[in-house]
Amino acid sequence: MVIVLLGPPGAGKGTQCKRIIEKYRLVHLSSGDILRSERAAGTELGKKAQEYMDSGKLVPDQLIIEMMVKAIAAANGNCVLDGFPRTVVQGAELDKELALKAKKISAVVNLVIDDEVVEKRLSGRRSCPVCGAVYHIDTLKPKIKGFCDKCKGQKLVQRPDDKPEVVKQRLKTYHEQTAAVVGYYSDSGQEILDIEADGPIDDITAEIFEKLDSLVTAR
Ligand code: AP5
Repeated sequence: MVIVLLGPPGAGKGTQCKRIIEKYRLVHLSSGDILRSERAAGTELGKKAQEYMDSGKLVPDQLIIEMMVKAIAAANGNCVLDGFPRTVVQGAELDKELALKAKKISAVVNLVIDDEVVEKRLSGRRSCPVCGAVYHIDTLKPKIKGFCDKCKGQKLVQRPDDKPEVVKQRLKTYHEQTAAVVGYYSDSGQEILDIEADGPIDDITAEIFEKLDSLVTAR
């Protein structure tokens, strides 16, 4: 089963993916998280990606496609894709790769939300540099302020690309290059599950589960 989760920066893709993978027993493949691990490990890919990520631009398609094709193969094609595809070229390459393995996308979930809401959300996001757990200073507080619940004593950090000026560029990049991926899927006849993503986290999860369940049952 391959689920694609679309939506602008800060729409809650990572937050919802963690819940989807538990319920449907899938692997969470976040292109952003994989790139951040590559950077932390100092790999060639990580070094190439750095400048693009820190300025809120997209890493070139070829680098991303190669990285994600490997990750999908390692997950045996049972995964939720978070942040990929992000261009129409990436979408077409994903379809080709899946067809080679006689697979196809099971569901496309599209988180819909206004720019002003995500700008506020991203300014309050904090994450654990060790386990990657994501918190928010108002809506998803850790038990001890500023520290990860799971990695005791580990200070939470703010992602460098969550600075307001980089968030503005990430949103611009989303509208100019990534929003078209929704059109790519609807043109190809793929059903898109639109979810209004401005609301309590649990309500959004419930709506995603309801729509995914009815899709899975219908097959
Ligand atoms: P990436 O890491 O994928 O960033 P993104 O898509 O911009 O998404 P985010 O991780 O910022 O947000 P999210 O939607 O996961 O929200 P979250 O759940 O954390 O990519 C980073 C960079 O890598 C890109 O800019 C690009 O350079 C590069 N890149 C990655 N993939 C690429 C690709 N395919 N091609 C080319 N380049 C690529 O939630 C955000 C905050 O809000 C959290 O604090 C959370 O607690 C809170 N929150 C979540 N839901 C709610 C809610 N319902 N109500 C209130 N608060 C909420």
